[in-house]
Amino acid sequence: MSNQRTYRVAVLGGDGIGPEVTEAALEVVRAAGVSVATTPFDLGAARYLRDGFVMDDATLEQLRGFDAILLGAVGPAIGDTRIPGGVLERGLLLRMRFGLDLYINYRPFRGVPGSLAEGCEFAIVRENTEGPYAGEGGVLRYGTPHEVATQGSVNTRFGVERCVRYAFERAAALAKPKLTLVHKTNVLTFAGDLWSRVVGEVGSEFAGVEVDYNHVDAACIYLVESPKRYGVIVTDNLFGDILSDLAGAVTGGIGYAASANLNPARTGASLFEPVHGAAHDIVGTGRANPLAAVSSAVLMLEHLGETDAAARIARAVADFDGDVTALGTAGVTRELLERL
Ligand code: IPM
Ligand code: MN
Repeated sequence: MSNQRTYRVAVLGGDGIGPEVTEAALEVVRAAGVSVATTPFDLGAARYLRDGFVMDDATLEQLRGFDAILLGAVGPAIGDTRIPGGVLERGLLLRMRFGLDLYINYRPFRGVPGSLAEGCEFAIVRENTEGPYAGEGGVLRYGTPHEVATQGSVNTRFGVERCVRYAFERAAALAKPKLTLVHKTNVLTFAGDLWSRVVGEVGSEFAGVEVDYNHVDAACIYLVESPKRYGVIVTDNLFGDILSDLAGAVTGGIGYAASANLNPARTGASLFEPVHGAAHDIVGTGRANPLAAVSSAVLMLEHLGETDAAARIARAVADFDGDVTALGTAGVTRELLERL
């Protein structure tokens, strides 16, 4: 069982099914014997539409002080055009990633029965604070025939190295230690060269880890045709974003995919969230699949050092063989509680 500690968790349920799935995840965490004191934060599309608030420095600093942040989903319903693109992405999600220095986006995948990648286990380690997401660039002569839009990709040795090192540490812990760098070194020669050299350098400290390289386009084929080949994939922010949706699709759908936005240096709280979105179309119907949120809570418990509770919940999720559609949120949660 866990120690006696009570963890302070900031809960950003967010929009759509976000609050439902985070509640289910917290129920499972508590049933595994971990004590959590939650503080709700009302952030996301609904809050923005209500009073124009996205995030401010004071809230960010408050979040930094928690043991962890659990997030449900953020975003308006599909077709709701009242919030311009970027307001919530840059203003809230990326603000937390950058502001709390959550430099790793760790996304583990396990192919569920019936999926293309059935039985395969691999993880994507995505750099989470640089690349095209850094926001370098701008627009000149806006709206004229001579308009220029540039969008740079930032790759610092510091940022690439800390990401690659984290990925090697993850890879080294696997039964079959393997790390694959995914990039586009044949076209993005400057950034690709930096990533390749850093993988070579850091890899020399991890003699037991097999190192491979795939171009990102080829990786899209391999993820579908031979996902068994992967252990840990390490890649840049944008490639990692795209590949992790594909990885979610081949392993059973993003209803299962969990993610951890990590600050391994622990200079601030890390953030845990399912990869899926707000799914406004099923909000309140009790049909939301809580498994991705539960698996994100597993990552949270691992980060907090509650490895025993994390392992037990992970096992319950892995052993779950019920019909998610038939059981719904409450039914799936009940089955997990029984398995604990
Ligand atoms: C994700 C999401 C985010 C991203 C968006 C919502 C900013 O797609 O977490 O993968 O692009 O990183
Ligand atoms: Mn994404």
